Amino acid sequence: RSRVNVSILGQCLRCWQSSQSTQVRSFRVTVVGASGGIGQPLSLLLKTNDLISELVLQDLVDSRGVATDLSHISTPCQIKHTLGKSELDKAIKGSDVVVVVAGMPRKPNMDRDHLFDVNASVVIEVATSVAKNSPHALLAVVTNPVNALVPMAAEILKQNDAYDPKRLFGVTTLDVVRAEQFVADHMNLNPKKVQIPVIGGHTGPTIMPIFSQCQPAFRGDDECIAALTKRIQLGGDEVVVAKAGKGSATLSTAYACFRFVNAMLMGLKGMDGPPECAYVESCVTDATFFATPLSLGPKGIEKNHGLPAMNDIEKQAMEKSIGILKDSIEKGIKYVQK
Ligand code: LMR
Repeated sequence: RSRVNVSILGQCLRCWQSSQSTQVRSFRVTVVGASGGIGQPLSLLLKTNDLISELVLQDLVDSRGVATDLSHISTPCQIKHTLGKSELDKAIKGSDVVVVVAGMPRKPNMDRDHLFDVNASVVIEVATSVAKNSPHALLAVVTNPVNALVPMAAEILKQNDAYDPKRLFGVTTLDVVRAEQFVADHMNLNPKKVQIPVIGGHTGPTIMPIFSQCQPAFRGDDECIAALTKRIQLGGDEVVVAKAGKGSATLSTAYACFRFVNAMLMGLKGMDGPPECAYVESCVTDATFFATPLSLGPKGIEKNHGLPAMNDIEKQAMEKSIGILKDSIEKGIKYVQK
């Protein structure tokens, strides 16, 4: 009789072990600003991501309607929503990833920097809530100006004893996506086959596509590289002008952010993925925040791959951008310290 019991126990144990090994660890993701121009397409894309078990849509208005709409889509991810500032903590509590896309977009003749004063408060509120409610969450900032708001968020997290530089990201994937597409157009390639690191930050000359490391090797002279670099650097302005006062890039931003969130989730799950560039605390240059290719893992940044190899023109461009980045970083930090 005891032999029977042992064999039943053994079967149960094997059953439990196999259920554990096949159990899918999936994640709770919060989008802050989910009802807006970026938030809606981003949330739609995230609803299709099987690594997400719960997607929380937070906004000051309309999150119920957007959530109800998305909840009719037949994918496993469950949609939740929260409304208003008073529910921000509820939105963030227990989340593995928090993405901030809330804030004002640019209008023609505005720089991203002009948005600092209006958008700083959103990022402060979210960083404070992350510190209090989900200090281990990965925080991804899309809200502009990324170059200043990410160091500012770091300062807020520090003040709340919740800063881990491996978990805070400025999302610059849109620059990479633009570079891939424009290079592919130029070389008549499938953009999915193009890889090009874009380092630095997310405005004007701080956006630095490294053409010397393009895969497949870039075909074009220096003039052509200069023209494409300028187009990538001014990609945001191109959209702002085309939208003629109705905002800035939303759909391409949503796509790029979706790609970065997916990379974060794959990292959290321990799955290998290609490195993605993002703007993070860094000792790679004199600027204390700098975008370089990163490998992501269960605790956020697993490896910062540092600066790619560069030719002299690229090195000079990088030197020039450091001062601009330092000013933005200082602006973000001083705003909070003050
Ligand atoms: C972009 O690059 O399109 C975004 O940062 C939005 C903007 O203001 O340019």
